[in-house]
Amino acid sequence: GSGGPVLAIESSCDETAVAILAPDGTVLAERLLSQLDHLPFGGVVPEIAARAHLWHLPALVEQALDQAALRTSDLAAVAASCGPGLIGGLIVGSSVGKGLALTLGIPFVPVNHIEAHALSARLPGVVDGGAPFPFLLLLVSGGHCQCVAVDGLGRYRRLGGTIDDAAGEAFDKVAKMLGLGWPGGPALEKLASQGDGRRYDLPRPLKGRPGCDFSFSGLKTAVAQKLASLPGVREGGTPTASEAADLAASFQAAVGDAVADRVGRALDMMPDATLLVAAGGVAANGALRRRLTDLAAARGLRFAAPPLRLCTDNAVMVGWAAIEILREARASGRDPDGLDTLPR
Ligand code: KG4
Ligand code: ZN
Repeated sequence: GSGGPVLAIESSCDETAVAILAPDGTVLAERLLSQLDHLPFGGVVPEIAARAHLWHLPALVEQALDQAALRTSDLAAVAASCGPGLIGGLIVGSSVGKGLALTLGIPFVPVNHIEAHALSARLPGVVDGGAPFPFLLLLVSGGHCQCVAVDGLGRYRRLGGTIDDAAGEAFDKVAKMLGLGWPGGPALEKLASQGDGRRYDLPRPLKGRPGCDFSFSGLKTAVAQKLASLPGVREGGTPTASEAADLAASFQAAVGDAVADRVGRALDMMPDATLLVAAGGVAANGALRRRLTDLAAARGLRFAAPPLRLCTDNAVMVGWAAIEILREARASGRDPDGLDTLPR
């Protein structure tokens, strides 16, 4: 049937996730495993990630079906994240998804991971009345940092992006310098909340420059230099608790300032947008959300971000993107079975 539930798989990085959504976007089941195996390595190891996806996916699919009290024969389509991401995990996720769809004789919908983040703002309940096109998407995660004009379904224009590190990468690296755990973003935000963001003068990369590209590597280096110059650290020790908190807060303030400047420029390039959307793991950052809320309000625009658990990688956004894609395919009379052969 065309209007039944969609099972979705996300495996492009280190999260292995499965979700089942009703055609109206209601989440019927959600299973997510973060691969803590990476912890001892201080980052994602692609080979470990791919093996873990393969190991966990079949069980997660079964658990999701149980949770939704559905059988595979109730499914109307299967979707999987098909990139960009780590190739091993993507192959595992799309092979499992495609195999399941083929066995069941239902459409397989390949979903672009960035498109899934973009459309997550249109999930029911995120924006009152549904997020209208066109809107500006700020995608800030561990792997991405870019401004995308979302003009409509399948109509995306990249307005600018990072010329070096992704925003989350910068958070993770600075967190590591400060001796915090991995992933560093949430730990750094927590530490920053106890600190004074004006204590250390750090650069705002590219602020005031034309365009809306981002840069974080100079800021990261500036933090490293500031840290190395602290008296206790120069003597071979660690920063004091207040120095560490103030440095974290100053870094977070610099990121907020730089990102707000860049996003402001992107909004200038998109005068017809009435909504600013942030997605990706770093969009979970409260300080950044407040900056973006203020930026949007000053221009008479709305700001929206998915709930925290849907900012980081998840399968719900993949399922929702598939629902939108299937809906449009049907509306335009295309065969949903041919979706996986269409270049997107
Ligand atoms: O979207 P995501 O789960 O995975 C990627 O596609 O990369 O994003 C993960 C990134 C990590 O770098 C993590 O440190 C960062 O998002 N992050 C945060 C926060 N929560 C997660 N960064 C800053 N503040 C947070 N609260
Ligand atoms: Zn992502």
